[in-house]
Amino acid sequence: MKQKNKAKIIAIANQKGGVGKTTSAVNLAAALAKKRKRVLLVDSDPQGNASSGLGVHARSLDRHLYHSYTGGVPLSEIVVKTKVNNLSLAPSNIDLVAAEIELISMEMREFNLQKMLKTVSDDFDYVLIDCPPSLGLLTVNGLTAAHSVLIPLQCEYYALEGLDQLVKTIRSVKKVFNKELFIEGLLLTMYDKRNKLTYQVADEVAKHFGNQVFKTVIPRNVRLSECPSHGQTILEYDIRSSGATAYMDLASEFLKQQRS
Ligand SMILES: Nc1ncnc2c1ncn2[C@@H]1O[C@H](COP(=O)(O)OP(=O)(O)OP(=O)(O)O)[C@@H](O)[C@H]1O
Ligand SMILES: [Mg+2]
Repeated sequence: MKQKNKAKIIAIANQKGGVGKTTSAVNLAAALAKKRKRVLLVDSDPQGNASSGLGVHARSLDRHLYHSYTGGVPLSEIVVKTKVNNLSLAPSNIDLVAAEIELISMEMREFNLQKMLKTVSDDFDYVLIDCPPSLGLLTVNGLTAAHSVLIPLQCEYYALEGLDQLVKTIRSVKKVFNKELFIEGLLLTMYDKRNKLTYQVADEVAKHFGNQVFKTVIPRNVRLSECPSHGQTILEYDIRSSGATAYMDLASEFLKQQRS
């Protein structure tokens, strides 16, 4: 149970690339913000896709996540408000690659993000961390800082490949750095009702993870793939799309889960 007034922190992780981590981080964050929750999205990926997807170009900012990770700049000083009400962002760009390298020689290197977030935890209801497609130190920092982890899985043939490795990493982080860490849920993304493979993947995931799988699935929706290039969330870009409905439904299911 989260403490009163302290943000609940959720890492969005899967070392597999292109499975919908950033799309889910940005649009779940936007959907929670629309439901009047105060949300911080931490772009913990040097690709900076969550930042650009929200129309923030970290290249043009003096300070971004790299400076908090390694330069001791308080997170509150790099957080920016986005044009979405209630949604703030800790932006990143390619410089974050250097943070991962610099972290290697630091003591307590797994705990940097946890320490950084402590200082802003009172200001938000939820913090979502968009992790990079690796199990390196940035992802380990995300898992160490988080209360729970949300795992997007793309509905395709190799969806479960590598999942063992991720689950093992989550277990080791739990054992060594973060006793309370749990799996918030697995989220099926790019779900295509016309494709038989989608059902096979869904069955397989249900067999392994049972009720840990979100009931809401995210359909394959071209509007979701278009909105980042406009620097907009799906709720701004096309509120009537199936993608927007799905992320609003996910936010409802997620919030219901917080109360139970
Ligand atoms: N439900 C969806 N329908 C259609 N396209 C989608 C959907 N979800 C994501 N995409 C597209 O698929 C690509 C990968 O998605 P995304 O960037 O969210 O994945 P990721 O896991 O964050 O990738 P990376 O591992 O590189 O960080 C993007 O081009 C995105 O626009
Ligand atoms: Mg991403």
